[in-house]
Amino acid sequence: MANLAIIGGTGLTALKHLEITQQETIGTPFGEPSSSLVYGRFYGKEIVFLPRHGFHHSIPPHKINYRANLWALKEIGITQVVAIAAVGGINSEYAIADLIIPDQIIDYTWGRAHTFYEQDQDPVVHIDFTHPYSEGLRNLLLKAALIAGLNIKDRGIYGAVQGPRLEAAAEINRLERDGCHMVGMTGMPEAALARELGLNYAAVAVIANPAAGRGEGIIEMSSIEQNLKLGMGKVLLLLEQLISLI
Ligand code: HPA
Repeated sequence: MANLAIIGGTGLTALKHLEITQQETIGTPFGEPSSSLVYGRFYGKEIVFLPRHGFHHSIPPHKINYRANLWALKEIGITQVVAIAAVGGINSEYAIADLIIPDQIIDYTWGRAHTFYEQDQDPVVHIDFTHPYSEGLRNLLLKAALIAGLNIKDRGIYGAVQGPRLEAAAEINRLERDGCHMVGMTGMPEAALARELGLNYAAVAVIANPAAGRGEGIIEMSSIEQNLKLGMGKVLLLLEQLISLI
């Protein structure tokens, strides 16, 4: 039985080298996940793949049913979740298609269903979120990167913004003053919901573009897509090694 799930982000709506064995549509008390769950063998091991934006990249970040996605994974017995996420680079050391394993996150999103405990009859639950990502899974990803010969950044602070628009240059300056190294639209509430369910969750951030005001000119979707092709090639190499360690 699979215990590892990969959540694919922009640029990763299908997982190359996944030999698909089954697809399952799962309903949850919170509604439908972004797509059916894709079961398959990936470099010899059973895993589950879930494209966060749907198979055709049709669900924008603020409309993703994060609760249903994580609930469905928990329901089928998943214990480890690796989330792939395209981000804009704020830190000047980042280059296009760099991979980062973030260790902290700041949440700037609003109006998203961000907890499983919201009904009057639900208990009052305050999960610990001091270390928002699973250190165990982060360490495995770092080990996998070493084996794969990938030069990845071993920590960084992810600023989770609401989107779907990209940021104003001044907003990026504010995020940097707050300590953010990268900016993306899907990191929250995904990480917190995973923690509420007791899932081991870590993210692989892929630099898709210099954040607003940090590159030349405006940010074009066509160049983001192009850059992500390069980044996702590295993600596949990383996941191949991760599988051998799990
Ligand atoms: N900002 C927010 N989210 C993103 C970006 C960005 O520049 N690039 C990819 N996802």
